[in-house]
Amino acid sequence: MRSDADQGRRGDCLRPTDPSLLSDPLTFFHEDHLREREICAMLERIATAETPKTCAVTHVLGFLREELPLHLEDEEQDLFPLLRRRCEPSDEIGKAIDRLAGDHRLSDAQTPPVVAALARLERGGESLSADERERLVIYVGHARSHLIFENAIILPFARLRLTESDLQTLTLRMRQRRGLGR
Ligand SMILES: [Fe+2]
Ligand SMILES: [Fe+2]
Repeated sequence: MRSDADQGRRGDCLRPTDPSLLSDPLTFFHEDHLREREICAMLERIATAETPKTCAVTHVLGFLREELPLHLEDEEQDLFPLLRRRCEPSDEIGKAIDRLAGDHRLSDAQTPPVVAALARLERGGESLSADERERLVIYVGHARSHLIFENAIILPFARLRLTESDLQTLTLRMRQRRGLGR
């Protein structure tokens, strides 16, 4: 029999991550990362297309405005602090998290101009300039290396070190953040 989590998994990553997966928060993070990878591919196509598809632009804008801030808060306010508490000193998780938090600050600075350029496109304004296209490609490069690092270091340590009670805390906090009840 398939679990709720299995039923919530998407094949196309074209919708926001299913909130029912929050009962298994590390699977939710994994799915959010697959989703972000798909958004990166869309953003790359927007950066290189002569005339980007408006539906793709709207879709990426929705992710950057609504889903990404929640994901960054899930990591910084809940997942990273739990990992700092639970990991062994020899795991050296602190250094990894410092690097990732630095990436998030970079994202805070780089996301608004990307959103502004896409919002103009969505309104039918001028097409992307060469500088904007380059900015999008750089943004995608940073996002991809961040994702690879989190998938390779953060999620495996989370699976190894977090307790059942930590996972319940994550579920609770991430549901609260999304305005969902218990
Ligand atoms: Fe992430
Ligand atoms: Fe992150």
